[in-house]
Amino acid sequence: MCGIVGYIGTKKASPILINGLLRLEYRGYDSAGIATIEKDGISLMKDKGRVKNLYNLEGIDDLEGTIGIAHTRWATHGKPSKENSHPHIDNSKTFSVVHNGIIENYHELREFLADNGYTFYSQTDTEVIPNLIHYYYSKDEKNDELKFLRAVRNACKDLKGSFAIEVVCKDYPDNMIVVRKDSPLVIGKGDGENYISSDIPAILSFTRDFYLLNDLEFVILSRNDAKFYDIDLKPIDKKTKTIEWNASSAEKDGFDDYMLKEIYEQPTAIRETIGSKLTENSKCEFEDLTFTKEYLQSINKIYIVACGTAMHAGLAGKNAIEKLCKIPTEVDIASEFRYRDPIIDEKTLCIFISQSGETADTIAALKLSREKGAKTLAISNVIGSSITREADYSIYTHAGPEIAVASTKAYTSQVVLLILLSIYFAELLEIKNEDIANLKKEVLELPKKIEETLKTSEVVKEFSKKVYQEKDMFFLGRGIDETVAKEGSLKLKEISYIHAESYAAGELKHGPIALIENDVTVIGIMTDPKLVEKTISNIQEVVTRGAKTLIVTNQDIDDKRFDMVIHIPHTNTFVSPILSIIPLQLFSYYISKEKGLDVDKPRNLAKSVTVE
Ligand code: G6P
Repeated sequence: MCGIVGYIGTKKASPILINGLLRLEYRGYDSAGIATIEKDGISLMKDKGRVKNLYNLEGIDDLEGTIGIAHTRWATHGKPSKENSHPHIDNSKTFSVVHNGIIENYHELREFLADNGYTFYSQTDTEVIPNLIHYYYSKDEKNDELKFLRAVRNACKDLKGSFAIEVVCKDYPDNMIVVRKDSPLVIGKGDGENYISSDIPAILSFTRDFYLLNDLEFVILSRNDAKFYDIDLKPIDKKTKTIEWNASSAEKDGFDDYMLKEIYEQPTAIRETIGSKLTENSKCEFEDLTFTKEYLQSINKIYIVACGTAMHAGLAGKNAIEKLCKIPTEVDIASEFRYRDPIIDEKTLCIFISQSGETADTIAALKLSREKGAKTLAISNVIGSSITREADYSIYTHAGPEIAVASTKAYTSQVVLLILLSIYFAELLEIKNEDIANLKKEVLELPKKIEETLKTSEVVKEFSKKVYQEKDMFFLGRGIDETVAKEGSLKLKEISYIHAESYAAGELKHGPIALIENDVTVIGIMTDPKLVEKTISNIQEVVTRGAKTLIVTNQDIDDKRFDMVIHIPHTNTFVSPILSIIPLQLFSYYISKEKGLDVDKPRNLAKSVTVE
């Protein structure tokens, strides 16, 4: 987490930096700061609180520097405070650094530096970095143009953990050095200027040409150039990649919040994700996949591993893969998977889902699977993201940038991509299944049906107004609908701060029903014709105990039994999560709005979790 921005060019850096930080605030917003190179050396401006507080700092408007680094923080080491805010500076005020990630051995490094006369003013792990760079810089007797680079490289060799860092040096006022390891960082190439950012959308309005960095590639930036070096300081040749997202996809475009905009972008996101992979009468094709029938026949298990919403998408993927391809599939939480000694060998295919492609636990789980001999397949929304560079195969959702912390369009795009993948596998395996032809038709009809589903917005809003002051809510479903209950409950927790639980409806009577009392809100999801009557019976049990009920269904049911019934278009159970989650996304959104909360930036959460 944490967001970093940098600028090196001919324009005044500070407004560009603050603007970039505002776009990266979804990554953390405990404190913010910028460092620019001014005529008299490095200027540091920082404070705790939101990025916009920077506008109030005395002297911020007087900054003239055209090179600068900036940071918005999600605190890990040291509480949010001015001292702990980035940028940090070394004792001699020669180097300033912003950092995203965690330096795991910072204690040892701090002791080492303290023994060498350095003093620390913050509780952060980051403060060791500028001082360590200074340590190596002061020991280097050669005074050539690579001295700054050598010092940064030598310091990075000592760092354990993850880092994306930007460094400026008062002795090299026309350069900046950046490097990353297991934390995201991209460089946007402009005309006579370079932009640096933790993600692409924050600088999309300036350029669409990006350098994507691999771990431990060091970059010396100047206004007109970017020179790349490996860890041995051998030059590397690197080309830019043009990104197709347009700048407006990272703007609110008239919506009050990114989340609402992203909910309404789902028809397009799904259409783009399906792309040319599927037509009604031909086989499902993935340009970037070269799986063979023999390989798929040789595997005996698939793991789908992810965190949060991406893991919930994985559950819909498991349903499709098991039903269509008959390959046993397990879904696991990345942070658990890696420590539970999973049984993996070359007969296992491991699929990793991550919208950002930067989630630390998911990346670590991927590395573990690869070491154990499995083939790895990454699903991400960000081209060139870390996870896609680690995996044997990568496929992409084409949801466009997702800015709101609570994931919406990325989830539905992941579900559709997993369904396409299962069709692709089933066709490769030459499985004769009459469901496949029908499923293709249902997938192709999704964008239209999502548009229909979005029309439930007003009814959902009405119900939200009735229950927004509640303290607890329950989400119930059976089969595929239970996976949607999980995601609906997570959305509500994330942005409304209401305590929400999700349960398999049939499990309720084995304990949780003790919590049901007068006026507790229960949300039931029912899209599986085989299970609808059973779920109705379970919901009836809570109605009898006084619960208020909201039902999301595509079945013909007796509406009178419930407080509110949202009818969504009919589809089959493979794709139903893509439709049934939409009223629940809207439900969380409207509750959060009623409560006057910051929908896009919920407390304590960050969009991209690059720490364990
Ligand atoms: C964080 C976000 C969630 C997201 C999860 C996985 O916890 O707050 O919204 O689902 O990370 O993110 P990823 O980028 O790996 O899909």
